[in-house]
Amino acid sequence: MDRHSHLNYSTNARASNVMMPDLARLVRVIPMVEDNYMFLFRFEDPALNDKFLYKPGQFAEITVIGTGEAPISISSTPTRKGVLEMCIRRMGRVTNALYNLPENSLVGIRGPYGNGYPVEEMKGHDILIIAGGLGMAPLRSLLNYILDNRSQFGRVVLMYGTKSPDDVLFRDEMESLMRRTDLECLLTVEQAYQYPGAHPWRGKIGMVTELFQHVKDLDVQNTYAAVCGPPIFYKFVLDKLLKLNFSKDHILMSLERRMECGVGKCGHCAIGYKYTCIDGPIFSYWDIVNMPELIEF
Ligand SMILES: Cc1cc2nc3c(=O)[nH]c(=O)nc-3n(C[C@H](O)[C@H](O)[C@H](O)COP(=O)(O)OP(=O)(O)OC[C@H]3O[C@@H](n4cnc5c(N)ncnc54)[C@H](O)[C@@H]3O)c2cc1C
Ligand code: FES
Repeated sequence: MDRHSHLNYSTNARASNVMMPDLARLVRVIPMVEDNYMFLFRFEDPALNDKFLYKPGQFAEITVIGTGEAPISISSTPTRKGVLEMCIRRMGRVTNALYNLPENSLVGIRGPYGNGYPVEEMKGHDILIIAGGLGMAPLRSLLNYILDNRSQFGRVVLMYGTKSPDDVLFRDEMESLMRRTDLECLLTVEQAYQYPGAHPWRGKIGMVTELFQHVKDLDVQNTYAAVCGPPIFYKFVLDKLLKLNFSKDHILMSLERRMECGVGKCGHCAIGYKYTCIDGPIFSYWDIVNMPELIEF
């Protein structure tokens, strides 16, 4: 099979030139925590807002006109059409330029790219979502997709850990998720500093792996674990999942690599015989066993 054949081209122009972005408007910027804002985009061509079909876990290349482009995970769920939501950390050239754009500016978007989570295979199973820090960005898409198709999944558990209460992304959403009866939502922070103006913290204190003790009777054979976070986070979470006897192909990780084209052409993201932009960014633990260099602890 042609390795590009699963890519989703939403316009004729893109079918003839995969590197051509579509124009989109930055409709809203929502500060969440310092240097981690939510950016909401809407395509200029109204038809594209319906036709831009993506799966949770896929990403898009965002162009700041005159500066360059960067791959960013789509944080919204395909079950809620209209705007694309992306949670973006201010890092360097492109992301700084994005932070300086006023609302209503035009940007370019091309995608969706990558394999995304195997949501069809995951249906009928229990789901354990484990996020660390900014790792919540791609997992939010998966979580909301599951909640919007709730009857098609079994038990759903979310474990989310950050350094401090000030670092919790999607804070308001987390509060309402904690009130849901069809989701076990467990939050933890490494340290809950108390200082005037600090966010109050009613969740747990400790590492994300310590949350496992609060999740009783996991049906490991029937559960998919979707994991995303910083490199050191993977080390401890994977260790725990393997000790619990999770099947290697039921552990799904979203891995970031430096990317350029995003469509398997430039070779920038190649690791062994895999291109992380099209074979990933979602990999199972089996992929890691076969190619340990995919993950950097
Ligand atoms: C599939 C994928 C999904 C991503 N999703 C998100 C997301 O949802 N939100 C978000 O904020 N960021 C995300 N990123 C990371 C984001 O693409 C980079 O931070 C971005 O390219 C930085 O661009 P820049 O021009 O602002 O920084 P640059 O000027 O290019 O670099 C700034 C610094 O970041 C480092 N850097 C850049 N890209 C990466 C990377 N991929 N991994 C490790 N270090 C890197 C550079 O080495 C440098 O130190 C994702 C990356 C990939 C590959
Ligand atoms: S980013 Fe160009 S081949 Fe993957």
